[in-house]
Amino acid sequence: MAPTKIAVIGAGAVGASIAYALMLKDMTSELLLVDVVPEIVKGQAMDLSDAAAVSSTLVHAATNKEAGQADVIIVTAGAKQKEGEPRTELIGRNYKILESVIGAMKPINKNAVMIVVSNPCDVLTAIAQKLSGLPQSQVFGSGTYLDSTRLRRTLAGVLKVNASSVHAYVLGEHGDSQFIAWDAASVAGKPLNTFPQIQALDREQVQRDIANTAYEIIKLKGSTYYGIGACAADLAEAVIFDRHRVCPLSVFVPRLGAVLSMPVKFGYKGIEEIYEIPLSAQEEQKLQESAQAMKDILASL
Ligand code: 2OP
Repeated sequence: MAPTKIAVIGAGAVGASIAYALMLKDMTSELLLVDVVPEIVKGQAMDLSDAAAVSSTLVHAATNKEAGQADVIIVTAGAKQKEGEPRTELIGRNYKILESVIGAMKPINKNAVMIVVSNPCDVLTAIAQKLSGLPQSQVFGSGTYLDSTRLRRTLAGVLKVNASSVHAYVLGEHGDSQFIAWDAASVAGKPLNTFPQIQALDREQVQRDIANTAYEIIKLKGSTYYGIGACAADLAEAVIFDRHRVCPLSVFVPRLGAVLSMPVKFGYKGIEEIYEIPLSAQEEQKLQESAQAMKDILASL
């Protein structure tokens, strides 16, 4: 395999967790870390380098300019939610940070795939698609991949099966207007709607619990980073190895005219196909409402 480079922009808890997950996967030749605080990025790079016992990945501090030449660029820079603060409240500060980071990266490797993790993820993904100059298919957000992971873990506990065998998606905004696509959820092709344990669930409560997970974790420990760290590293691996996986990611959806999470196939070249899955009328309504919420925020900038 040709040498590969992954850049992580932002060496705070989220960026460092992504970098650590990538070190443990030991699947890239070079890991570039960027941060506005030189001491932080140098310290993180030195500390990560000490994972050499389990990783041959070369990790070092880098500039935005160097990061712009990577194969995969993971953007985590930005302020994080305070306790009880919706992700959308971060847009003012994080828009400016994203603008500065992307500007400093240019000229960006024309084949690069950019994964936006910073929040509000969907709106910042739409902005990064415009600012980066990359084809829209090469810029996507981690979106509801983390929320869907939380959902699958929850449903796996109810059904007593491995989470990897539960096919269920949270779609829409990586935020308060997200929803669960119950009608498309299954185990081994058996619709979840046919399982008595699922029929017994308070579905609105399950949706609220998944959407509120981050708020709960932030209240307890100040911020989230391991979940998103594992998810973002998993996405980067699927890009580098051109896996053609299908995950719920934040992409521009033409029929909605908005960037939010839908199941998409993706690989080394970025997004390949959006999968329109069966949604009930109520679920389609929730998707439309989520899209409108994203469009309203973008229009307000
Ligand atoms: C999460 O959902 C805060 O977006 C981050 O964990």
